Amino acid sequence: EKGPYPHYMLKEIDEQPFAIRKLITKYQNDIGEIAIDEDIREAMKETDRIYIIACGTSYHAGLVGKQLFERITNVPVEVHIASEFLYNRPLLSSNPIFIFISQSGETADSRGVLVEIKKSGFRALALTNVPGSTLSRESDYTLNTYAGPEIAVASTKAYTAQIAVLAILASDCARNRGIQLNFDLFLELGLAANAMEILINKKEKIEEIVWKYLSVSRNCFFIGRSVDYYVGLEGALKLKEISYIQAEGFAGGELKHGTIALIEDGTPVIALLTQPQVKGNIRSNVQEVMARGANVCLISMEGIEDKNDQLVIPYIHEYLTPLVSIIPLQLIAYYAALYRGCDVDKPRNLAKSVTVE
Ligand code: F6R
Repeated sequence: EKGPYPHYMLKEIDEQPFAIRKLITKYQNDIGEIAIDEDIREAMKETDRIYIIACGTSYHAGLVGKQLFERITNVPVEVHIASEFLYNRPLLSSNPIFIFISQSGETADSRGVLVEIKKSGFRALALTNVPGSTLSRESDYTLNTYAGPEIAVASTKAYTAQIAVLAILASDCARNRGIQLNFDLFLELGLAANAMEILINKKEKIEEIVWKYLSVSRNCFFIGRSVDYYVGLEGALKLKEISYIQAEGFAGGELKHGTIALIEDGTPVIALLTQPQVKGNIRSNVQEVMARGANVCLISMEGIEDKNDQLVIPYIHEYLTPLVSIIPLQLIAYYAALYRGCDVDKPRNLAKSVTVE
């Protein structure tokens, strides 16, 4: 039930710190180590390449997961949109494993790929939020995201839970391959949950941002580099699906290759900056669009912030920033939809679970 909340989406955004803390208790054993089924462990240890298959928001979580895996394990990862996979079948490695990421576990496009790869005898791991769902039943292995029922059509807590489980799986995989990690994952996840809470308590600030940047515009751009680019894609999807503002996320470096032509006086641009190595480049992108009249809202992270940035998110481990940087973007989408009188929980033309291809 919604309880005191006006919308499920707001409730589900607020539940995210709790969902991360719950995952810590579910995936940590008594002596503080990662608890994952031995057969999943074995499969992840043997594979020479991971193929992540998903749609929409789950695909965006997959992009974050790829970067996490490749940063901390030595396993290459490809991420594919389920509906495109069978047309553009990639050349497979000799011992692939497929990871299907799906909140509902019912998405027909993803299931279509699962059915095909099972015919060829490949192994599949389902990462879903619904135990007993089709994808989890039909896969060889399954991992639960434990986010609890997600009712709003726009996915929020499932996304952050997917990323957290991917971080746990990647850390476990690294350990089993003899790679020493220089951070304590569960500790960092706990800190990320605290940081999420801090931002969730800044709703008034986000409302102000929406008022200032999005009250009249019909479009909005999200820019970021490295993992911030992937989070920007998700921020743009959230905004378009519930507020109907045309939104696009793209890599900061791509601006000059075309999109900058669309920037005019007053165009809202939401820029993300959580990765120290891209600081100089993203700040010059911001200058470039401002010089063309853009109305820039820069969301940065403590440690690399500037006093003029519109919102500064608390410091978190560089691998886990999406868990926290997505919160203001989810809230921006929520308030933009609310101000426009849109049906936040049930946007037009969309279904929670897409069971047709
Ligand atoms: C966006 C959204 C969709 C889903 C997509 C995949 O907010 O909810 O993009 O992420 O339809 O759904 P699942 O994860 O259930 O496979």
